[in-house]
Amino acid sequence: MDFDPLSFFEPEPKIAIQNTDNENVGKLHNNDITEVGGNSSETSEETGARKNEDCASGEKDGTVRLQVLDLPIVNTSLPAGVLSTLLKLFEPDQTKNFGPASQATHPTSAQMTMLELEKYLSCKRITTLQLEELSNFLKRNIQSTLTLTYLPKQDHTGITSFLTKVISFPFLNYTEEERDSIYNLASHVMTANSSPALKGDTTRVVEIEGLSKDILLYEPALTEDKIGNITWGASLELAKQIVKDKTSVWLPKPAAAMMTPILELGAGTGLVTIVLGLLGYRVVSTDLPEIVDNLTRNIELNQLEFVKSSPAEKIVTDSLVHVTSLDWRAPNEFLDRTMCLNGYETVLLSDPVYSTSHPYWVRDAVSAVLSQSENAHVVFMVGRRDRFEDVRECLWQLISDLGLKLILSRIVDGYDDYGVLQYDYKVYGRKDQ
Ligand SMILES: C[S@@+](CC[C@H](N)C(=O)[O-])C[C@H]1O[C@@H](n2cnc3c(N)ncnc32)[C@H](O)[C@@H]1O
Repeated sequence: MDFDPLSFFEPEPKIAIQNTDNENVGKLHNNDITEVGGNSSETSEETGARKNEDCASGEKDGTVRLQVLDLPIVNTSLPAGVLSTLLKLFEPDQTKNFGPASQATHPTSAQMTMLELEKYLSCKRITTLQLEELSNFLKRNIQSTLTLTYLPKQDHTGITSFLTKVISFPFLNYTEEERDSIYNLASHVMTANSSPALKGDTTRVVEIEGLSKDILLYEPALTEDKIGNITWGASLELAKQIVKDKTSVWLPKPAAAMMTPILELGAGTGLVTIVLGLLGYRVVSTDLPEIVDNLTRNIELNQLEFVKSSPAEKIVTDSLVHVTSLDWRAPNEFLDRTMCLNGYETVLLSDPVYSTSHPYWVRDAVSAVLSQSENAHVVFMVGRRDRFEDVRECLWQLISDLGLKLILSRIVDGYDDYGVLQYDYKVYGRKDQ
């Protein structure tokens, strides 16, 4: 029978069924548990009892939820591909926005269409064939349909013990590359649930009311101190303001933004840039050189037309989005390459200050790149985090010292990965409104 990848994910939870007179009961397992499964001393009778319990508690459709005991024995007969697929499935699922709505939604076969499943698997870097290989491997001792429970959350201890075995097993039959990848995946799954900052490679899904499609943001593991590789709540709040308030005083009409593109400084994973691009604005999206690759990847992931230029190349803004590096400490290096010789009329920054030097660097960059036109605006969305009051106040003072007028100042309620957070939404212009 053809493999149905949807069947690998658990059905929606059902109300317990009292009737145990279920024709599937007898089919739920066979006795061959020596080759796979039995990742403990459980006997076939115990396994059978457990399967019968599953069935009695509502698995009436012949499905059995994957449990820790069904995981393969960690030994040399475990194929690297199978183990790799399993570990990828145990990585945290996609994150949606921030705050309460960000609870990772584990897919269920009842909810998912084939298209959604393909999207889910591609975010996890798994092909249908790899899922089938894993399913067949796991099913060798269970003749019923085995579905994937969100095991890391449901049996943390059991999974940690499985991962510990993986990390300490030599896998001498694997290639060096396979071994490294398995150890990386297993240690990533181990740490992933302990802190948002440690969750590593993940794809955040951002849903904004008023936008016709969700935005996908790839966030690689924070292996070094690359703050720009995670999405900050400030960019979501700024993006929401842009979508909600298209008639805002500072937002040019898309046609005007075709003439002088909007410039984003410290764009990070690119949410604001992508929203602007989806709305038809021309954008020059910038960040530190080491952040530009992931920024570009996200613009591509969201299917926007873009051009990327290396630090030595001219910035030719004939594409919808242009990605390049701009270090606030050396804005002239950027100005030497830009075609907008008179500077940019609209400059955007979300969450740019998190050290005492940042306000000064941001001031210097804004001063260098903002046009002298009376229509020029610089827009900030900055998290009102405790202990950073002085840094924020310093920024507002330095921006005012540039002679810019505060024309809009609002506190916006939002979230970041750690919970509820308010944001300062401030717009400065060259002239009073
Ligand atoms: C807190 S993150 C915010 C990222 C993004 N705006 C968001 O809200 O998701 C700060 C951003 O500023 C960038 N950044 C820090 N120092 C910078 C510098 N000297 N020049 C340019 N960008 C810098 C970081 O790389 C990072 O992307």
